[in-house]
Amino acid sequence: AYGRCDMTRKSFFIDTDTASDDAVALVMALRHPEVDVVGIGVVAGNVPLDQAVQNALYTRALCGRDDVPVHAGEAAPLSIPLHTAQNVHGGDGMGDIGLPLSGRTPEPGHAVDALLRASHEHAGELTLVTLGPLTNIARALERDPTLPSRIARTVTMGAVADHVGNITPVAEFNMWADPHAVDVVLASDLDVEFVGWDISRRFAVIEPDLASELRAIGTPLAEFGIDIQRIVAEFCATDTKLAGFDLPDPIAMAYAIDPTVATETLHLNLRVEVASGLTRGMVVMDLLGLTDEEPNALVVTQADRAKFLDMLRTALT
Ligand code: BDR
Ligand code: CA
Repeated sequence: AYGRCDMTRKSFFIDTDTASDDAVALVMALRHPEVDVVGIGVVAGNVPLDQAVQNALYTRALCGRDDVPVHAGEAAPLSIPLHTAQNVHGGDGMGDIGLPLSGRTPEPGHAVDALLRASHEHAGELTLVTLGPLTNIARALERDPTLPSRIARTVTMGAVADHVGNITPVAEFNMWADPHAVDVVLASDLDVEFVGWDISRRFAVIEPDLASELRAIGTPLAEFGIDIQRIVAEFCATDTKLAGFDLPDPIAMAYAIDPTVATETLHLNLRVEVASGLTRGMVVMDLLGLTDEEPNALVVTQADRAKFLDMLRTALT
């Protein structure tokens, strides 16, 4: 029975700068019956690398999935210093609610090696899901430019199709954190499917009543998934001006698991700004086809909020 079931399961490799919303996305994948998470690579982003590794290991343990290997990756962006988002997610990245986020040990071996190995073991059928800065992916592409030929799908949480940013007026955090890595990925043969922060802002905001309802599911995972958003909720009220906290990585993960979470997608040409101080990390999307450049990415532009919330509820139950 397991073998038959296995044939319909999709192999996922997840790259994450594990903080509060990444953790919920990990729960969704680790608990989904049709997803086989073959590995998790960690990258510096929301928090320094060591903290992100601890957060991924804690989340894995809470899901009872210590069988899934977690590998530490790059501790800094390709060409610029690391600038974390601890003001958004808390000092520990998990809302500073007192979780014991230390003392666990990741699997030996670098996340880039783990991704390349998984791409051979699952050649042609691997879905790569990226939830943080693209540093590990850029390093993997530099090391082995044939990687894209073995990847079936790449889903990336990043950028904004309406060009309204969450870290600068025009840039989304994951792209801003390591724009040079975005440049490497866009220039590669990876067919990236972007789920931007605009999708999170429009379809994945969890208002206080909904948060209470989800927490009242009462499972340890439901309480964890909501409580770790404590600092994010404050940030969303004061900075991004949302009606609750939003869940960018979980809605990207929902789309990776079930592409019908997207109700509209566009093939667009994307380019990233790496130099300007004003627009660093801005992913410029040619929505009107004003350039003669060929489309180089698929961008999700509309999503099914009800479907996403169903998947979230199921994962936390
Ligand atoms: C992205 O940035 C991070 O803070 C979140 O984890 C998410 O991946 C949203 O812009
Ligand atoms: Ca993230």
